[in-house]
Amino acid sequence: GIDISKLRDQTGYVTLDIGYKNTGATKSAITFLDGELGILKYRGYPIEQLAEKSTFIEVAYLLIYGELPNKEQLADFEFQISRHTLVHEDMKKFFDGFPSKSHPMGQLSSLIGALAAFNPESLKQGLTNEEVNLEIIKLIAKMSTLVSWIHKKSLGHPVTYPQNKHDYVTNFMHMTFGEITEEYVVDPVVVDAMNKLLILHADHEQNCSTSTVRIVGSSDANLYASISAGISALWGPLHGGANQAVIEMLEKIKADGGDTDKWIAKAKDKNDPFRLMGFGHRVYKNFDPRAKIIKKACDDILEKLGVNDEVLEIAKKLEEVALKDPYFVERKLYPNVDFYSGIIYRALGFPTEMFTVLFALGRLPGWIAQWKEMKTNKEPIGRPRQIYVGVSDRDYKDISSR
Ligand code: ACO
Repeated sequence: GIDISKLRDQTGYVTLDIGYKNTGATKSAITFLDGELGILKYRGYPIEQLAEKSTFIEVAYLLIYGELPNKEQLADFEFQISRHTLVHEDMKKFFDGFPSKSHPMGQLSSLIGALAAFNPESLKQGLTNEEVNLEIIKLIAKMSTLVSWIHKKSLGHPVTYPQNKHDYVTNFMHMTFGEITEEYVVDPVVVDAMNKLLILHADHEQNCSTSTVRIVGSSDANLYASISAGISALWGPLHGGANQAVIEMLEKIKADGGDTDKWIAKAKDKNDPFRLMGFGHRVYKNFDPRAKIIKKACDDILEKLGVNDEVLEIAKKLEEVALKDPYFVERKLYPNVDFYSGIIYRALGFPTEMFTVLFALGRLPGWIAQWKEMKTNKEPIGRPRQIYVGVSDRDYKDISSR
């Protein structure tokens, strides 16, 4: 006759796992990750094959709909996206309000949240699959336009409108770096590099931002609100913000004379808050397969573009020293995806403050796929428990006697 659920509530009997280090929050069929063996697969396809052979838009389709598209499906997906790349002209007014030095990630999360206001039909309860799909297409299309406009506004330049004759990545690079005053041709080497980077960032199972998207969406919040929350979660330097932090760190080491041993010693010193940015990962304890691909891509792209970047040499030296140092070896700290990605972004011409925005652009299909899976599986609202450790009982005191 004992009601166990009530008993648990009264005694505070819950699983305590601060930081969710070993708590599964869902069952998912999207991304497989083995941190011990350094394996990452999207829908069963190894990341190495996708990065080598696929395009970002094809991978987006795979993540969201579960299968690689055939020719017609891919052409239709690309066509649908290209039809929605324009954003409402009134959205340009946001840029008049943002201070010129405001961080691109703050702008991006506000702009994506604001898309719900410009698409009120997305707020309707009980949307059909077709209606949900339309919002997904609009979001993928408009985010690339908004990201390029954030870049343009940071320069004080007029925005460039989408040209839908181009594929998704070429269009994005065109809007980001093209001028309205002259013809701009996007180098295929650059398009290839961007596709690789976006693919490598496209999903990563249950991390801080993805779990945020799922938990916000679980309250039935709309797609734009859920993704905007994910963007905010990604901003932090312990997550997506690390790619900006890596370049800032490498620049600092360069300005300090390039003494990598000194900075490795700082990272090991427990009284010094400095951490080697781009090193370590909650799940990968052997190597990050994305970092392996990016390191090679970094060498190839810099060579093809004829860019000679001193910070790449510093990064390689740091890695070499750290991988032999018992502190890093014992704690299984290896370069993660962010360690080399920033060097490529820089070679492509992006300013440092845009790096995390590019991570968000790449992660968008993963967030969408995870949001859609959570909805399809009709998961209950996310609502963790806690163990209360505060004062147990006291009486209110009037302010005059405090
Ligand atoms: N430099 C120096 N020491 C480190 C580093 C680092 N980059 N990362 C971890 N450590 C040390 C910790 O001080 C700790 O040492 P201790 O056991 O002596 O106390 C030990 O390694 C374990 O670290 P935790 O912080 O407990 O590991 P956690 O899994 O919580 O954190 C994280 C993982 C956040 C990625 C961490 O390694 C870190 O801060 N790295 C730098 C930031 C970074 O690159 N983030 C990007 C992550 S990848 C991504 O989001 C795409």
